[in-house]
This record gives sequence, structure tokens and C-alpha cells, in this order.
Amino acid sequence: MEYKYSVILTKALILLVLVNCDHSTAADLPHAQDRSGAPCVRCNIAPGAPCPKKKDYSRTSCVGCHTFKSPCCDGTVTDYFQSDQFENLFSNRDSLEAHAKGFWDYHSFITASAHYQPYGFGTTYMNSTFFGSKEVAAFLAHVGTRTSCRNKVATKELLEWGLCYNKQMNSNSNNYCDEHNKNIYPCAPGVAYYGRGALPIYWNYNYGEVSKDLKVDLLKHPEYIEQNATLSFQVAIWRWMTPIMEHLPSAHDVFTGYWKPTKNDSLAKQVSGFGATINVLYGDLVCGQGDNEFMNNIISHYLYYLDLMGVGREEAGPYEVLSCAEQVAFNPTTSSSP
Ligand SMILES: *[C@@H]1O[C@H](CO)[C@@H](O)[C@H](O)[C@H]1NC(C)=O
Ligand SMILES: *[C@@H]1O[C@H](CO)[C@@H](O)[C@H](O)[C@H]1NC(C)=O
Ligand SMILES: *[C@@H]1O[C@H](CO)[C@@H](O)[C@H](O)[C@H]1NC(C)=O
Repeated sequence: MEYKYSVILTKALILLVLVNCDHSTAADLPHAQDRSGAPCVRCNIAPGAPCPKKKDYSRTSCVGCHTFKSPCCDGTVTDYFQSDQFENLFSNRDSLEAHAKGFWDYHSFITASAHYQPYGFGTTYMNSTFFGSKEVAAFLAHVGTRTSCRNKVATKELLEWGLCYNKQMNSNSNNYCDEHNKNIYPCAPGVAYYGRGALPIYWNYNYGEVSKDLKVDLLKHPEYIEQNATLSFQVAIWRWMTPIMEHLPSAHDVFTGYWKPTKNDSLAKQVSGFGATINVLYGDLVCGQGDNEFMNNIISHYLYYLDLMGVGREEAGPYEVLSCAEQVAFNPTTSSSP
């Protein structure tokens, strides 16, 4: 898939601004009463204190922290997602046919997610419903779909080929250096910013933004991402947690229901849930076009992973929530090929 978000993202990344926290006090929330004023362990926020203004995912840190089961913020992804489940989800990733044989492992995912769990990744309660395990299934469904080599292998097990790749094949020799952004995100000589990461990111400005967050110079060394599975997962979770444009929600926001559709959004059939994550990540490359194979493939991965993680596909909700077939795209692009 080739992205042509260049023009849109050019503005987007400059416009990323802090958002105001719609902050709840501890007493409002069902699981937080017995915390007796102690600060959240991981988020270090006193109950009822103003939410910290932490970059673009500030809002999610409030959700992750203030609504956490007592004692707040003590849950982790490892509480419900174990190494054997990871092995089941990605059972063919070390097979002979896999392009990134030996690259990916459970430990890298857990280490990478630790950076984002305090912001609510895999740890969010919303209105006393736990979204963590479903969110990890949803995130990994996108990852599994984008890194799958199901088309390259003759097999009936179409959903078992996630984490087959660790980079996009750079077939058209584009270096993805955006001219308009060269001053802010200088392109290093001789490198190309093609899709790398468990959810691939493209273009110098995305590499530049994620560099700031992870404090690794990926503009100079984009290749680090394809050499380091932890970094590769971190890049992917960054993409999941970060709005692509200032006025847009992140995939995390729409999945956990933190994002509330406006009247206009409802008219546009943008309801929070898994379908909206497809919309956030792909916009009109995939959404608002009725049924299509790319979308159905992501949904199939999600249902399959929910089963393997012991959550069960019946928790996924109705088709309107699961799909974005009828949704108006969040970010209209001029491109058409997913
Ligand atoms: C891989 O990336 C992680 C996260 O950025 C970092 O902590 C670790 O040191 C890196 N590993 C190597 C071998 O460079
Ligand atoms: C959570 O509860 C509040 C207050 O009842 C409601 O406004 C909000 O829509 C709920 N959020 C979700 C995601 O259900
Ligand atoms: C809602 O949609 C109408 C018609 O497209 C538009 O004129 C209006 O500005 C929108 N309102 C908001 C709050 O976005």
C-alpha cells in the first residue's frame, strides 16, 4: 500500500496541539473510590488533579489513569496477554517462508507497550468496562494484517501469517522525503523513509515525529526500526495512540470510546469501535465504500485474535461497529489504492 497523505500530513504534524483534558475526578468513577487520595502509581497523578498536558495523547492518560481499577494504574498488558497467546496469534512468523524470520517476539511487544500503557494503551477502563484486552486484539489485528504474507504463501490458513514482514518492500524506489517538510524534518542523505514498523510509517515527517517521542534519531537512522523489534512495535503503538491530524481522534480514542462523535459525526455514521480505527488509520482508502477485501481482512484478523486471546469474537459487537463500510472517511485523501 502506498500512502499519499503527504499534503495532509504536512499540515497535520505542524498543527498537532495539546488538547484540553475532559478530566473526571476520582469520585465520579465506579472503580476509583477506595483510593483514598493516593497518587496513581504509574501516572503519578493525584485523583481529581488536572490532567497532565502530555502531547497528543494527553487525553488518554486521563482515561487510563483516573478510571483504573483500584489501586489505579496497576494493571499491565501482561496480566491478560501471555507469551503463549502471542505464539498462537503469530504462529507462522518464524517459518521458512516468513520474510522476517526470527525478528519478532513477545518480549519486544511487551517492552514496547510498557512505554504507552501509562497513557492507556491496553490498560483503559471506560465507564467501568475494561477495554484493554480488546484493544490489544484490535491493535494486533491491524499489525497482523499489514505484516501478513498471506498472499505470498499457498495456504488455507489465511489469518496465521501476521508478522511475516518487518518492512514494506520498497518497490518503487521512492525515498519518501517530503519537500515541504525538509526544514523541520531533514532527510538524511542516501536513506529512504519507506514503510517500517509493525504498523508501517512512511515519510520523513512521521519518522521525525516518532523520533521525538522515542528519543531515537530515526531521521538519521530509519534502518534501526527494521533491526529492532521493540522499536518496531513502539513505532506502531505511537501510530495507534497519536492523531494523524489535529482535529482527528487517535485509533486508541475511537476504540475505547473516549472520542465522542458529534452530531455531524453521527450523521457520517462514525461510531466509536473497531471500524472507526480502520477509518482513523486508512480513511477513504478503505472506508465508506461498502464491503471491500482489505477492510474485511482486518476484521477477520480481529475476530480471530479475539478468539485466540480468550475474549471471544462475540465481544466484538455488531457489524456497524466492526466495519467502516458505511462511514464517511475521517481524512479524505486523493489516493485510491489501499
Ligand atoms: C531497541 O530499541 C529499544 C527501544 O527503543 C532500546 O531500548 C534498545 O536498546 C534497542 N536495542 C538495541 C539492541 O539497540
Ligand atoms: C460513559 O458515561 C458517560 C456518562 O454517563 C457517557 O456520557 C459516555 O457516553 C459514556 N461513554 C461510553 C464510551 O460509553
Ligand atoms: C456540520 O456539517 C455541516 C454541513 O456539512 C457544516 O456546515 C457544519 O459546520 C458542521 N458542524 C460542525 C460542528 O462541524
